[in-house]
Amino acid sequence: MPKNIVSPSVLACDFSRLGEEAVKAEKGGAQYLHLDVMDGCFVPNISFGAGVISSIRALSQAVFDVHLMIQNPLNYIEDFAKAGADIITFHIESSSPVDETIKKITDCGCKPCVSIKPATPAEAVFPYLDRLSMVLVMTVEPGFGGQKYMEDTEPKITALRREIEKRGLSVDIEVDGGINPLNAAKASLAGANIFVAGSAVFKSESPSQAISEILRAADSHPFAG
Ligand code: DX5
Ligand code: ZN
Repeated sequence: MPKNIVSPSVLACDFSRLGEEAVKAEKGGAQYLHLDVMDGCFVPNISFGAGVISSIRALSQAVFDVHLMIQNPLNYIEDFAKAGADIITFHIESSSPVDETIKKITDCGCKPCVSIKPATPAEAVFPYLDRLSMVLVMTVEPGFGGQKYMEDTEPKITALRREIEKRGLSVDIEVDGGINPLNAAKASLAGANIFVAGSAVFKSESPSQAISEILRAADSHPFAG
């Protein structure tokens, strides 16, 4: 199994101190930083774009894990690559052609990831698995932080992990939405290995403690097979 990583989502942080919050997460042990881009079209909320990501790139060495919740991701891949994205995730439910968007992300020097909303079956990403570095299984409806983790997404995580193992691929499975130490253990057991956490990290008294608790929970509940 690939190693477990926590990817704090800055959506839950104080935007007036975005740079400091990003540094705080990194100093607190986060290897990734999750950046939620929302266009008010694919999801009913607007967050921030490539300009904001580019301005915090200079302050952080973390892996920039950019989650595009936008209707036409293909049109913006270059912008996010130039802004400093390392991983670029787009939604299979968006309007962009999947093959072309994966290719564009790879050609721009970034790692491609496809995300599925709660109602989309795991099998929808099977045809692309051999070209992906990660699959993001949404554990809430995308659009807002602070929602409740949906347990019924766990069978999809397991179906994906089994398929990845069956084919001998090394593809990460990221979970995103309502993650805390309790359900990180369950998602890990189901086969996830990258854990996005917004509220659990940035609304906590101690982000570093929150990160290590999620990691400990995941590490002590490895994929059950
Ligand atoms: C939801 C976003 C998530 C969210 C996570 O659309 O993709 O990344 O900000 O935040 P929490 O952990 O608060 O659910
Ligand atoms: Zn996200």
